[in-house]
Amino acid sequence: MLSKTLQNTINNQIQAEMFSSYLYLSMSAYCETNNYLGAAKWFKLQSEEEWEHAMKFYKFVIDRGGKVQLKAIDQPQHDFKSLLGAFEETLSHEKKVTALINKLYEQSLKETDYPAQIFLQWFITEQVEEEANAVAIIERIKMVGEKASSLLWIDKELGKRAKE
Ligand code: FEO
Repeated sequence: MLSKTLQNTINNQIQAEMFSSYLYLSMSAYCETNNYLGAAKWFKLQSEEEWEHAMKFYKFVIDRGGKVQLKAIDQPQHDFKSLLGAFEETLSHEKKVTALINKLYEQSLKETDYPAQIFLQWFITEQVEEEANAVAIIERIKMVGEKASSLLWIDKELGKRAKE
C-alpha cells in the first residue's frame, strides 16, 4: 500500500507528465505551422511518450492500492522563439521533471518503499536520456547555425525519429 504522501506526490507527477505531453504537443503545432514537419513529428512522438509516462504512474498508483486523483493541466505556451528556442525550452522543462523524479525517489527512500524505488529507477534512467537528447539537438543546431538550409537539414534529421 502506498503512503498518502507518496500517493499525493505521484498524483502530482501524473499531472506533470500530462502537462509535458501538452507542452510538446503545443511545440509540435508550432513546428507544423512554421513548416518544420520533421520537428513536428519529433515533438508529437515526444508528446505521446509523456502521456505513456503519466499512464505508468497511473497504473502504479492503482497496482499499489492507491487512488488516482487527476488534476487540472495548465495551459502550455503557444509561441516559441525559434526551433532552437523550442528545444531550449524542452531542456529546461526536462530539468524540472528530473528534479521532481529525484524528489519522488528521495521520498521512497525515506519511507523504505522498495517497490516505489524499483519503479522509479526506470524514470531516473529515462530522464538522463531525455536531457541528453535535448542537449544533443541544441548542440547540433548551434553547430550548423540557424540559416534556412541548415534548419531544413536539422528538420529532416528530426523527422527520422521513430516510435520506440
Ligand atoms: Fe516524462 Fe520528459 O519526462
